[in-house]
Amino acid sequence: MTEVRISAAPNIALIKYWGKRHKALNLPLTSSFSVTLSQMRSWATVREASGKADEWNLMGDPSKAQRVVEAARQTTGDRRPLYVSIENNFPSGAGLASSASSMAALTRALSRFLADDTVPMNQLTTWSRLGSGSSVRSLFPGYVHWEAGTDPEGKDCIAETRFEAMHLPLALVACVVDDQPKPIGSTAAMERSRDTSPLYEEFHTKNTSMMKIALDAVTRRDFIALGEVSEANCLLMHEVMQTSGPPINYFKPGTHAAIDHTRKLRAEGIPCFFTIDAGPNVKIFCPPEYQESVRRACENIPGVKRLLLDRIATQLDPVEAA
Ligand code: DP6
Repeated sequence: MTEVRISAAPNIALIKYWGKRHKALNLPLTSSFSVTLSQMRSWATVREASGKADEWNLMGDPSKAQRVVEAARQTTGDRRPLYVSIENNFPSGAGLASSASSMAALTRALSRFLADDTVPMNQLTTWSRLGSGSSVRSLFPGYVHWEAGTDPEGKDCIAETRFEAMHLPLALVACVVDDQPKPIGSTAAMERSRDTSPLYEEFHTKNTSMMKIALDAVTRRDFIALGEVSEANCLLMHEVMQTSGPPINYFKPGTHAAIDHTRKLRAEGIPCFFTIDAGPNVKIFCPPEYQESVRRACENIPGVKRLLLDRIATQLDPVEAA
């Protein structure tokens, strides 16, 4: 095999991960629940480097990718110098989960290039997790549950698809408020929240009960209940951020406008809910048949630069390499 090129899509958490139980192993404190998207994608290319050193062709700091490559080398014993390239078809580092899709794509490309896809999934989740925790969820399609586990080495910290996308199809209208890299990365921000926010523990206690509500809502195909618990979980995570010292505020005026707009649409009878990650962009989910109405209604929100449309992936590789 001379070169491997594989893509993965971002995932958007409905029940969030915002805290670690082990820093070096990057194990989460509580479980999280997400949907993996389809059209937004990261492509990872891996081949043998032409010289004796690794070659990195990616946006920004390669340290996350380096940790994934090192984990892959430890498992496979293959220490050839590698050329690694990662490209995204959407803004990187702006809270649109580009590190999740990048690390998941890289993990899958390394597994194919170094081991012909023979590495077990549990091992792949470890590679990916060492790059970025939330990327573990992008290794799976549909509604994905990432179990925090209790094993000190993280053996039970695994992810799986809990529901196929078709069980409760969701469409996404992402309101891009700012597509510049965020002021503080998730890893550092989580540490600040752990050290300073009075709501950090409460968030993690509530996360467990909110997870039950979310899983139950999807089981019953109850879009309204899923939206309620997802918004509550997102707002609680942002309260944790904002009560950290110094406060971590990812929101911009366009973020507030898009939140208000989602609530207004809902009051007008359009089923939709929002969620926001470590960035100012607002992801609005709705049933697929409402995506066009939501898109049209969101065209002129002040502070929103553009809209990105997507849906939950039914499988992992639906899109050809661009
Ligand atoms: C707000 O996975 O980026 O998107 O594991 O430190 O790399 P690290 O953090 P990361 O955190 C994602 C945080 C979040 C919520 C979520 O996706 O669950």
